[in-house]
Amino acid sequence: MNQSSEPLVLGIETSCDETAVGIVRGRHLLANVIASSVEEHARFGGVVPEIASRAHLEAMPAVIQEALKIAKVSLNDIDAFGVSAGPGLIGALLVGTSAASGLAVGLDKPLFGVNHLSSHLAVDALDETKPLRPAVGLLVSGGHSSIIQVNDFATDIRVMGATIDDAAGEAFDKIARLLELDFPGGPAIDRLAVDGNSHAIDFPRGLQDSDYNFSFSGLKTAVSRYLQKTPDAHRADVAASFQEAVVDVLLSKAIAACAATGIDSLIIAGGVAANSRLRALAAERTAILGIELRTPPLALCTDNGAMVAVMTSLAVSAGIKPSQTGLEALSTASVNQPIWA
Ligand code: KG4
Ligand code: ZN
Repeated sequence: MNQSSEPLVLGIETSCDETAVGIVRGRHLLANVIASSVEEHARFGGVVPEIASRAHLEAMPAVIQEALKIAKVSLNDIDAFGVSAGPGLIGALLVGTSAASGLAVGLDKPLFGVNHLSSHLAVDALDETKPLRPAVGLLVSGGHSSIIQVNDFATDIRVMGATIDDAAGEAFDKIARLLELDFPGGPAIDRLAVDGNSHAIDFPRGLQDSDYNFSFSGLKTAVSRYLQKTPDAHRADVAASFQEAVVDVLLSKAIAACAATGIDSLIIAGGVAANSRLRALAAERTAILGIELRTPPLALCTDNGAMVAVMTSLAVSAGIKPSQTGLEALSTASVNQPIWA
């Protein structure tokens, strides 16, 4: 390996609407470049897969070049390539896996197909001074919500519970549409809720008697009915009360998982981890209980290439075999499998 014993890794992420490339040396972040097609989808109220795939194709060469420039390295210096191989939009994933395979084969370097979901959690490892230790992971994104026991990012992660219907981010996006807010709905609700009273409306907390599974469909119906019955509703109160219901249930279950496993460390990752109320309430509750809270910086909560690069770097360090050439992209994949065979 070049210059240092730590692997220099380039990671590519294209599972949804972000074309993203990250470069790390070991667990040290050198570059994180993101081109988003979000504005092209906004008028459709959701991500249009064909538009996302086309945008990835167009953006990919420049995003790779920019990341190499920022990291002050050349393609020939890279020791290993990583790519989000699933879950995600299949056409979008294929642009990433094709680009990464082309680079790896062309430069005769190993390629790792990584799980997009586990890499959301692994972004927590992006600080070489921080010891790697077990944690409970609350993974909350647009497509997935689960509670995970993370013993080791690359080799041992176990799902404890997951949503049985909508993902947390999906619930934010759907309620935002009811409130006639812009897409993506999460940040829009977060902003509107600042001016609202989170105790104004007592929206239901789903699946309170199940340990670690979530359900957001009842909450969605309750908000929808409330808006129908209350045409002059104070929208900021609705946003704040809805947000409080989601955040409360996510944290109650994540903290219960810490107690059950005896793990006193909580990682919150995925797009919804950018939510300001989730971060504030998590800080409050974990401080009272003496649980260490690990939340990525805002820019690393939503999809990015740094998470793929660090996940790959951890796999290299763990001695995991690279994925096979012709690596498959999968639209659905369990979080339990961090690296593709
Ligand atoms: O992880 P991510 O970027 O993409 C997926 O893998 O799904 O997550 C995107 C989701 C969207 O549903 C978006 O509305 C939500 O994360 N999100 C937020 C916030 N920022 C992004 N939800 C609540 N509050 C936010 N500040
Ligand atoms: Zn994601």
